[in-house]
Amino acid sequence: MSTVSPASTSSAERKKVTTITLRQKKERGEPITMLTAYDYPTALAMDRARLDIILVGDSLGMVVLGYQNTLPVTMDEMIHHCRAVERGARYALLVGDMPFMSYQISTEEALRNAGRFLQEGSMDAIKLEGGHERVEAVRAIVGAGIPVMGHLGLTPQSVHQLGGFRPQGRTAATAKRLLEDALLLEEAGCFSLVLESVPARLAALVSKRLHIPTIGIGAGAGCDGQVLVTHDLLGLFDRFTPKFVKKYVNFHAEMLRAFEQFAAEVQAKSFPAEEHMVEMPDEEWKEFLKGM
Ligand code: KIV
Repeated sequence: MSTVSPASTSSAERKKVTTITLRQKKERGEPITMLTAYDYPTALAMDRARLDIILVGDSLGMVVLGYQNTLPVTMDEMIHHCRAVERGARYALLVGDMPFMSYQISTEEALRNAGRFLQEGSMDAIKLEGGHERVEAVRAIVGAGIPVMGHLGLTPQSVHQLGGFRPQGRTAATAKRLLEDALLLEEAGCFSLVLESVPARLAALVSKRLHIPTIGIGAGAGCDGQVLVTHDLLGLFDRFTPKFVKKYVNFHAEMLRAFEQFAAEVQAKSFPAEEHMVEMPDEEWKEFLKGM
């Protein structure tokens, strides 16, 4: 099926990305690339594009499952999509996003669910949202040998508490709290931190203070890496587009065009054409007709 030859991916010299690779990239000042994926073909394309990190984000709930926010997403749904992504990606570091209520109830549940991402979902690491209130869970998960990515700023699982999907850390007091949380998460053992929708100069300062890499989304160019939700980048999610998204292509419009053309051709009986049909030898057809 594949039209991309293994040589074109020059896989020979490629090594699997690890948390150490990311730390080294930060030290060398090389930007880290991360995108979200929820299925096999997307993960395959990202791996061939040499992305450093693939995040199976709980944004799944909004951009794939059509919920209004990420809150209804379950552990079983996340694991299902992690397995599909893992089958498509060999080199990128794979991060599974812990869904709402999979780590907030107790440290024990957080640890058990983090373990499921590695055992059942074949992920390399997990991500969870929150600051000082997550330190105990982060310590326990890291203590079990599971790499943890933190997530500060706009944390979509707290959408109701934040009063909507709005930028964070825009006052001196909230900026100070965000920096303190970032330092606590680093100290607790996180290998990296997502900073979502925070002022660019605050994200740049946090990135300088931390030894671990920051990955920004709506956090400016001063982060150590960048992430976008893939369905935003591809123009597949047309409900709303945050200010910080760059649409690289409009796949929704392309899909619409293809579906309309298919329907029109079927109605006009111009599809399928000769070249799309299966034939059988004339002798076999004659033999078949004889028996009718
Ligand atoms: O769920 C997700 O896609 C995320 C990214 C926005 C970082 O958390």
